[in-house]
Amino acid sequence: MGISHRIKMPKFKSVLVTGGAGYIGSHCVVDLLNAGYDVIAIDNFANAVCDDEGSPALRRAEQITGKKIAFYKADLLDKPQINDIFDKHDVDCVIHFAALKAVGESMQQPLLYYQNNLLGMLNLLEVMRSHNCYQMVFSSSCTVYGEPEKLPITEAHPTGSITNVYGRTKYFIEEMLKDLSAADEKWNIISLRYFNPVGAHPSGLIGEDPTKEFSNLMPYMSQVALGKKPVLTIFGNDYNTPDGTGIRDYIHVMDLASGHVAALKVLSDAHGRLKVYNLGTGRGVSVKELVDVFQRVTNTNIPIKYVERRLGDITAMWADATLAKEELGWTAQHTIEEMCTDFWRWQTMNPDGYAKKQKTTFIAVNGKS
Ligand code: UD1
Repeated sequence: MGISHRIKMPKFKSVLVTGGAGYIGSHCVVDLLNAGYDVIAIDNFANAVCDDEGSPALRRAEQITGKKIAFYKADLLDKPQINDIFDKHDVDCVIHFAALKAVGESMQQPLLYYQNNLLGMLNLLEVMRSHNCYQMVFSSSCTVYGEPEKLPITEAHPTGSITNVYGRTKYFIEEMLKDLSAADEKWNIISLRYFNPVGAHPSGLIGEDPTKEFSNLMPYMSQVALGKKPVLTIFGNDYNTPDGTGIRDYIHVMDLASGHVAALKVLSDAHGRLKVYNLGTGRGVSVKELVDVFQRVTNTNIPIKYVERRLGDITAMWADATLAKEELGWTAQHTIEEMCTDFWRWQTMNPDGYAKKQKTTFIAVNGKS
């Protein structure tokens, strides 16, 4: 067998993951460990559960993979601390998830969002440069597109016409990265624009457990299914869509994770550029459809109530993910049914998230365990 047929080890060995204890970060860490990378994770626990021993999510990521993670409780606003971590480790590449992301909060506290998301990024880039590390995957969002002019959305769609501060921090960072890569060709950066991440690792060991108040559809809906919230309010049934409810491109968090691993492989071959990719399934699903699928596959009943449209919401958004397929060799694999089943497995095995002891049984489809 020729050498090219042997298992290819990644060209980067060590990857530093900011926001590693969070929802998307912890799932990505699992895939990185499985792909053979050494992971250094940092998190300030702004929106991730922390206990006496650190991050329960990352301990479970170690349990899933049988591999160790170097973890630091660290804040990107504390530049000397970040510098120390880079002094200790030979970091080949950074995946930058750490950011505040609550739309409503961002409107009330814009300075907090600009300071945390923009200054945090600046500190990180400066520390990377001083340690000769020029490779980054940045966690961006489809929110940078604003109200779509045309669907599906390609990466060429104009950006910047955004109605909330959180979204603007993502947009400003992308602009900053454009300037940086234009000024210095040593930088190699991929910005991944996520559509709507949902689901959980199929083990049920890790999942979404925000410490702040949340309003995203899937976690809210499953809290209603668990009986922790009385009713799911659907924001508007008068949109110009087939059933009147808003349409989004929901993507399984494990597909997002594999998108990062695919990006790293391409990044390690690239020289001096910024590339942007949509990570979505290419399929739009309405709120009503998602609720119906969730009820069906989890055998639950979700009381719903239609209310006014939510301020700032758009009608419909889904990705054209062709570029990621062509250049990263990546496509989303999971169905809407799997997204719901996996999210529900995580919720029923961990009704109180990471805080309480995990249940050993899973309330399976049809209510049997
Ligand atoms: C939101 C953020 C977006 C962020 C994304 C991350 C806003 C305005 N946008 O997107 O910037 O990148 O999360 O996942 O918050 N819905 C209900 N009832 C609910 C909750 C949601 O009907 O209780 C509807 C919404 O109107 C929308 C859909 O469900 O049509 C999805 O909402 P959500 O999960 O909050 O995501 P986005 O608003 O698309």
